[in-house]
Amino acid sequence: MARHVVLVPGDGIGPEISAATRHVVDALGVGIEWEILEAGEKVAEKYGTLLPKYVLDAIAMAGCALKGPITTPVGKGLPSANVALRKALDLYANLRPVLRLPGIEAPFPPIDLVLVRENTEDLYSGIEHVVAPGVVESIKVITRKASTRIARFAFEHARKTGRKLVTAIHKADIMKKSDGLFLDSIRSVAKDYPEIRYEEFLVDRACMQLVSHPTRFDVLLMENLFGDILSDLCAGLVGGLGVCPGANIGEKGAVFEPVHGSAPDIAGKGIANPTAMFLSAALMLDYLGSLSEGNRLREAIKKVLSGPQEKLTSDLGGKATTDQFADAVAAAL
Ligand code: NAI
Repeated sequence: MARHVVLVPGDGIGPEISAATRHVVDALGVGIEWEILEAGEKVAEKYGTLLPKYVLDAIAMAGCALKGPITTPVGKGLPSANVALRKALDLYANLRPVLRLPGIEAPFPPIDLVLVRENTEDLYSGIEHVVAPGVVESIKVITRKASTRIARFAFEHARKTGRKLVTAIHKADIMKKSDGLFLDSIRSVAKDYPEIRYEEFLVDRACMQLVSHPTRFDVLLMENLFGDILSDLCAGLVGGLGVCPGANIGEKGAVFEPVHGSAPDIAGKGIANPTAMFLSAALMLDYLGSLSEGNRLREAIKKVLSGPQEKLTSDLGGKATTDQFADAVAAAL
């Protein structure tokens, strides 16, 4: 049965990896009907926003989108399209699997963990104001409702996937009220999952443990800002940003996208690694109920990654272009 999916190619390397992803997903023969819509820098001037309303409406209507990265201006300019999208569609759960794939050199034994990041509040509430010249306040918003539902999501995900440990990451020694509420909400939920061990780590200690003993973790549960930072840290443990997928999931739909950004330093060169977007598409196929196609795609990626190193993209030490890598994955299917 054909499924309607909105594809937002995005900025920088986005169009290159999106075209490669369409190629491999179409090769699976799963019958996706793509509706390709632009957001980001290309449309910003025309619409005065990085995320035009018609794109938002189309994603809400389809209930499913695959998205490339969108550039966010630093320190000025338009607000982030990514944050706006997650908030507007209430995509409250950000799921980021961190898996060491075959053929990728990394300093650790095989890592297989998953980050669950609250996606709608925290310091990403966007509430900032100048109190007086030289003094600015940014408001961190934490609510029991959002903390409870992300905790429920994390424990349900752990139960469904047979994971045994949930670690909440926080800074409640300093932010006693906000992170205190976050932890208190999680503790209430944890009681309903007696088969899953629950523990708490200060974010600084968690960073230290992640770069020295990453395999001791299983499911990491955290607020928005810590989730943003720790997911890049975890990407570094398994071969870099080019191989880490992500999903933003809500009650009414989901948007799948790589963890990495628009990589302006390599945009237009045809050398970006499309693996993270391929794996995001595999998560999307799981979400759409096409589990066997999602697994076929993952297996094909692993097969190519296990082959000769020169057939990989340059971030993984190879010489292949984005398109050559995509052709190899499509052939492996
Ligand atoms: P970035 O993730 O774009 O790049 C960091 C480094 O990783 C660069 O050296 C880049 O070349 C490399 N890299 C990233 N993805 C790669 C891939 N697929 N293959 C090979 N190398 C890859 O992070 P940066 O430079 O901090 O951000 C650039 C822009 O992206 C910013 O405007 C930022 O706001 C935006 N961004 C957007 C995201 C989204 O749309 N979900 C997520 C993260 C950042």
